Parts: sequence; C-alpha cells; structure tokens
Amino acid sequence: MKILLLGSGGREHALAWKIAQSDKCEELYIAPGNAGTTEVGENVPMKADDFEAIKMFVLRNRIDMVVVGPEDPLVKGISDYFKNDPDLKDIPVIGPSKKGAMLEGSKDFAKGFMQRHGIPTAAYRTFTQATVEEGISFLKTLQPPYVLKADGLCAGKGVLILPTLEEAEQELREMLGGMFGDASSRVVIEEYLDGIECSVFVLTDGKSYKILPEAKDYKRIGEGDTGLNTGGMGSVSPVPFATKEWMQKVEDRIIRPTIEGLQAEDIDYKGFIFFGLINTGAGGKEQGAGEPKVIEYNVRMGDPETETVMLRLKSDIVDLFEGVATGTLAERKVEFDERAAVCVMLVSGGYPGAYEKGFPIMDVEDVWGSIVFHAGTAMKDGELVTNGGRVIAISSYGKDKEEALEKSFANAKLIKFEGKNFRRDIGKDL
Ligand code: AMP
Ligand code: GLY
Repeated sequence: MKILLLGSGGREHALAWKIAQSDKCEELYIAPGNAGTTEVGENVPMKADDFEAIKMFVLRNRIDMVVVGPEDPLVKGISDYFKNDPDLKDIPVIGPSKKGAMLEGSKDFAKGFMQRHGIPTAAYRTFTQATVEEGISFLKTLQPPYVLKADGLCAGKGVLILPTLEEAEQELREMLGGMFGDASSRVVIEEYLDGIECSVFVLTDGKSYKILPEAKDYKRIGEGDTGLNTGGMGSVSPVPFATKEWMQKVEDRIIRPTIEGLQAEDIDYKGFIFFGLINTGAGGKEQGAGEPKVIEYNVRMGDPETETVMLRLKSDIVDLFEGVATGTLAERKVEFDERAAVCVMLVSGGYPGAYEKGFPIMDVEDVWGSIVFHAGTAMKDGELVTNGGRVIAISSYGKDKEEALEKSFANAKLIKFEGKNFRRDIGKDL
C-alpha cells in the first residue's frame, strides 16, 4: 500500500515510524514532514491543509490511503473533500468527517454532544457578545478557579484558567471582544475539575472501536507543573492510576456512549478519538477509584503522547487502519507491549514564549537506547537545525518507567543545541 501521512511534528514522526514497520506499507510519504521523517519515508513539500495540492499528489502517485496527523485539515473537512470528489472518493482517509471533527473544532458542540449522551464532563454554559452580562452572572455562581474556553481552534491557546472573579470577568469580556478572532466569538464557561489528567485513545471505524495504550502528558514548561502551557514537554505510558477497573469506567461511561452517540447522530467517524480525561474525586493511592470526566475531545492523536503510545502498540497499525477504512476493525487485534514507554521533549530556549530557530543540533547520532522523534527540526545546508519550539522527542522503553526515564534523560543531556531546555521531572509525580 502507498500511504500519505499529513503533518510535520513529533506525533507524525512517531506515526511514520510505526507505519513504516508494517509489511503492508510499500511506500510512505509525509507532507510536509520534518528532518526526522525522511528516515522512514519521503517528505513532500506540501501543506497538510492544501487540499488541491494533496489531490494532485494523491492521484499522480496512486496513493492508497491518507492518514491525517493534525486537527486542522480535519476541521477544515479533508475527509468530506475526498468523499465528495469523484476521483478521490475511493481513497480512504483516516480521520473523521467535518461534522465529526467538530468534537474538537467547537467546544460548544462537544459539550452539547456530551450532555445529549450523558457523558460525564464539567458543568458549563456558552455565551456570546450579546449575552456577556449573563456570562458574568454565571461566573458569580461558580467557585474559583474559573475556566474559560474559546469555542473554536486556537492552536492550543484558547483555554484560560483564572484564579479570581475579577480576572475571569475581564478575560471573558476580552475573549468575546475578539481576543482570538472568530474562534472566541463564543465562549464556554465551565466548572473547574480538580484531579490528575490522563489521555485515552481510541481508533474507530464508526461501528466498533479499539482502545490504544493510554498516556499522561506534561503540559507546563516548568518542573512541578509550573509556568506557561506548552504543546507538551513529555509523556508516560502506561499511567499507573489507569487500572483495569478505572479503564472499565472510562469505556462504559465515556467511550461506548461516545461511539453510540456518533452513530445516533449519524456522524461519519473513521479515525482516532483522543479523550482528554481528568480523574476526579480521588488522590494518592485511591486514584484508581476516582471518577473519570471528559475535559476535551480531540479528533487526532496527542502530541507528545503518540511518541509513547506508538512504542506500546505492538499490532500492525496499517492493519488497523485497513480495518477502519473497510469497516472491519472488529476483526482486527490490538496488542500492547508490556514494557513502559516515556518521552522527554527537548525544547528551544524561551519556548513557549519567543525563541530563535536555526541552531545546529549536535550528537543525535550518539543517542543510544532511545528512539529519537523529530518535532521542530529542519536540514539547512546539510546540517540538522532547530526549527520550532519543541525540537526533539526522546522516547525510550523500560521494564518500568524509571528504567525508561533513565535512558531518555541520559540522551536528553547528550544531544546539544543552543538554548536547549527539558523537564527533568517527567513521570516523577506518578
Ligand atoms: P483543553 O484545551 O480543553 O485541553 O484545555 C487545556 C488544559 O486546561 C487541559 O489540559 C487542562 O489541564 C485544563 N483544563 C481544561 N478544562 C478544565 C476544567 N474544566 N477543569 C480543570 N482544568 C481544565
Ligand atoms: N498532548 C495534548 C494534545 O495533543 O493536545
């Protein structure tokens, strides 16, 4: 099979690494890819949301399947674009329809969906510029901290968590006043949920589903979960509190009702669903007894969770994709690797604030015992250089997470570039 993977981050390098291991994959193209994806396939200089360029490439190169990494092309409707084009309609896209992608593309739609299907989530209401005063009255009924979410996609920046009512009121006015443009013309205000987060991933053909290994990511820039939010500083899989009992609750109360809800609403969904969960009502050793609630849906894999989940997925991912494409996922087998996997992200100095690009990256070839996934890298005059905030993910296996972390941290120290930063406490809270 000839496969085209869309995207350019660490998630896509990890997906490409996994796809390339399949006997069913004859040729793999990544658009646009990064300096790392060339190790497992061929990069195509084409934006992941340039549908016309993608169409030309797919037809000219007789691509058999398109796998979508990021949310943007999905929210813009790439699956529908293929389905509605006479030349493309028989080429499967792994990723939901535009309507399905609204689970991520509109927080208000996602909250309404959960409410309609009895899926546990934070209490909420949605407001617009016309109802801003009602929004402020609603804020006054809640306890701090206050959670404000821009309805639309904001490249991960649309969620604000505010400690005081005054700040929440001010930010609500600013958001509805156009802080994130159209994306914040509607704002969801929701109850703050206290607990530890876990990312659960499912692959579905719209009828049946397979649960993939879960992971925890580390979003803040600073150790001890302090400082600004980032795209993700590392991840760990498995997650200790995601016990069999806890995962059963997740499946019964969240996963199955979501799949059934999609069917009931006649939403075409063939692809990944990423359930961003928070484990409420339990701490410490009792975490396995906590109550999982949904804080967000994403319609793609997580980054940097993919950089550990792909290590722990033993099964042939292309076989699973075939199952998705042909509606035969129920017949396929998902096997997990029993080892632990961790990922430590090397980031540019200054990230997630302003940072410079183009610094040479040294000693990657000396990495031993870990798998290097490139995120923001590029080749410049034959030299590997930094090309983004998150630069390189260092993933490792271990008999437990401690052993895996030891390898990732050793290699994190080994690789060099100006301004390099990474969190030394990944996995230490679990
Ligand atoms: P989201 O973009 O929806 O994933 O939100 C970004 C981050 O904000 C999440 O990963 C959580 O850490 C946090 N968050 C979102 N919603 C809530 C909530 N209702 N209660 C507590 N934290 C939240
Ligand atoms: N790691 C969180 C995300 O991919 O959205």
